[in-house]
Amino acid sequence: MKVALLFFSGTGITANFATEIAKGFQYHKNVVDLIRIKSDLQVDLTKYDIVGIGSQTYSFRAPRLVTRILHHQDFQKKPFFLFCTSGGMPGNTLWNLYKSVKRTGGYCLGFIDGIGITNIRSWMPKLSSPKPKFWGLNHGDCEQAQQFGNLILDRLEKIKNLSSFSKNKKWIPNFQIVTSIWSIFFTWRWEMALTVGLKHVDKSKCKMCGLCATTICPSGAITLTVSKIPKFNEWKCVGCNGCVNLCPTTAIWSIRSKNHHPYDHYNKSIINFDL
Ligand SMILES: Cc1cc2nc3c(=O)[nH]c(=O)nc-3n(C[C@H](O)[C@H](O)[C@H](O)COP(=O)(O)O)c2cc1C
Repeated sequence: MKVALLFFSGTGITANFATEIAKGFQYHKNVVDLIRIKSDLQVDLTKYDIVGIGSQTYSFRAPRLVTRILHHQDFQKKPFFLFCTSGGMPGNTLWNLYKSVKRTGGYCLGFIDGIGITNIRSWMPKLSSPKPKFWGLNHGDCEQAQQFGNLILDRLEKIKNLSSFSKNKKWIPNFQIVTSIWSIFFTWRWEMALTVGLKHVDKSKCKMCGLCATTICPSGAITLTVSKIPKFNEWKCVGCNGCVNLCPTTAIWSIRSKNHHPYDHYNKSIINFDL
């Protein structure tokens, strides 16, 4: 069986969660492709049997950039499942993903969430200096993510074996009205940029590699000047902090991330999917 895992991740925690989920499927000899969601994403899902879709939580919901991209993706009525990571308050994240995928997706096989609070280090390093005790997901969440694959495969079997399968509400995430009202006001793109901080470039440190614009930015918010120095469009920025974490010379910073130090695991968890 072939599984596509589409995920959005700013600082690598959701990428790690996706990798753990993938391990669960691979254990049963299924083939899993990990695909990072970026603004130009259009995947042909024909060759896949199941699709998993995941993102992190920004202000109690999935980033609007993600839901918009998913809305334009054709899921070809494939059975799907959802996953997310948050600092502990995912709010409507899974529901937002569900709504974006259901339109062209098939049966929802379930969902799972994990906790990854320490990405706060990328935008408020003073709060978490010098280094947090653990980075990313805790061990329990990793184990659960791996077992999640079993559950999804079981449910897929059930659907195949039953000619008439009544919809099980439990597999559809709940909509939360209160967090939804909050999200209306606090998740427009420029507001996320303001929350995390406007970006600056230390020109003396910049090596003009262009990686921030070409490799990491999911929303097309970074362009390069003629001299290859990054220029930020805060209107488009979703505040994921990918550029801050990726920059090999820590030349990119915001007021909040000024004293940040790059993630040890960052290259492994994010960049390996692209290069
Ligand atoms: C701008 C911003 C807003 C966030 N909002 C929330 C939130 O509303 N609730 C929550 O539990 N976590 C929130 N978080 C934490 C992230 O959802 C969490 O750290 C997630 O695991 C990050 O995943 P990533 O590393 O894949 O980007 C927020 C993080 C950022 C940077």
